[in-house]
Amino acid sequence: MIEWPPEKIKDFQTTLLNWYDDAGRDLPWRQDHEPYHVWVSEIMLQQTQVQTVIPYYQRFMKWFPTVTALAQAPEERLLKAWEGLGYYSRVRNMQRCARQLLADYDGQWPQTAAELSDLIGIGPYTAGAIASIAFNEPVPAVDGNAYRVFSRLLEIDADITKPGTREIFEDVISQLISKERPGDFNQAIMDLGASYMTARQPDTAHSPVKRFNQAYLDGKELDYPVRTKKPRPQPIDYVAVVTKMGPDWLMAQRSSKGMLANLWTVPLIKLSDLDLAEDYTVNELITATVAYFKRDYQLDLTAEALAVRPVTHTFTHQKWTIQLLTGQVVPADLAFFAGKTVSATALAQLPMPKVQTKIWDRYHSSQG
Ligand code: ADE
Repeated sequence: MIEWPPEKIKDFQTTLLNWYDDAGRDLPWRQDHEPYHVWVSEIMLQQTQVQTVIPYYQRFMKWFPTVTALAQAPEERLLKAWEGLGYYSRVRNMQRCARQLLADYDGQWPQTAAELSDLIGIGPYTAGAIASIAFNEPVPAVDGNAYRVFSRLLEIDADITKPGTREIFEDVISQLISKERPGDFNQAIMDLGASYMTARQPDTAHSPVKRFNQAYLDGKELDYPVRTKKPRPQPIDYVAVVTKMGPDWLMAQRSSKGMLANLWTVPLIKLSDLDLAEDYTVNELITATVAYFKRDYQLDLTAEALAVRPVTHTFTHQKWTIQLLTGQVVPADLAFFAGKTVSATALAQLPMPKVQTKIWDRYHSSQG
């Protein structure tokens, strides 16, 4: 139970909402309270910054203006709309959810967090965000912002990486949330978390709610939220071969399971799958890669090194370090290669992950 008396809770709500009315961000998904708009924006915002999301959101609404349009989208278009955002299972699940809404709910959104949680890809945070913003249900939406803001306001010492902790926060926020304007309350907390109450450099001295911020008053802000350290991403080494077959690029499609499923990259091989000694030379790397192309793809590759630094890319659980080679293969049947040849003009149509964009950039920097 929270120790604030009712007058203090009211004072907090009024202070927060007045600030939000005055200084809340004018964002494209805040122009109305359509559940479809709230849903799409909340899924995009889960792992991605607001500034990055804005153009993706606008294009997404052009391409898929309704649940029905999303349900009917071809996968390639769907992945293209998400290209570079990462965590591609999010958009696949969105399409499954859109189909579920049409098939099982007559295309009508359920209006409570409890029912929304039954939909594919909608967890407790997203359910709370949609229910409060689109349907005015006074329920919390506990994301990283909410953990940070409320742990500081109330000096909540629970470890936010532990499963039971969400409930502690939901319980606290349920007591603080405005019953009249729950959606604005939740979004004000998000804006506060992105401005005066950031993780590393908060500016609480100017925050509208500084007098409610116990951790600030005690000089302990940076101690919150409490979390145990994440394990380091596992390092994995790759070689990427920027390859032409005749005039076209040779592009590989990742399998439909696992990381970056169905997205396109240049041929990318784990060094552990090559026949290489630990202290290999560049020439040995080339020889082993050529042998791999022959054995696994039945393709005759001629390759050379690129005088560029390796590309690095960090995912949640893996850190990839990618050496770059360039080369060409003798035109042949691609029966043993999961991919296709693509003309320079058609390349832009393929959905590619961010790590591939980095590979292109590094490759072009070597071409002068
Ligand atoms: N982060 C997550 N959801 C958000 C929203 N609706 N507005 C701004 N930032 C957010």
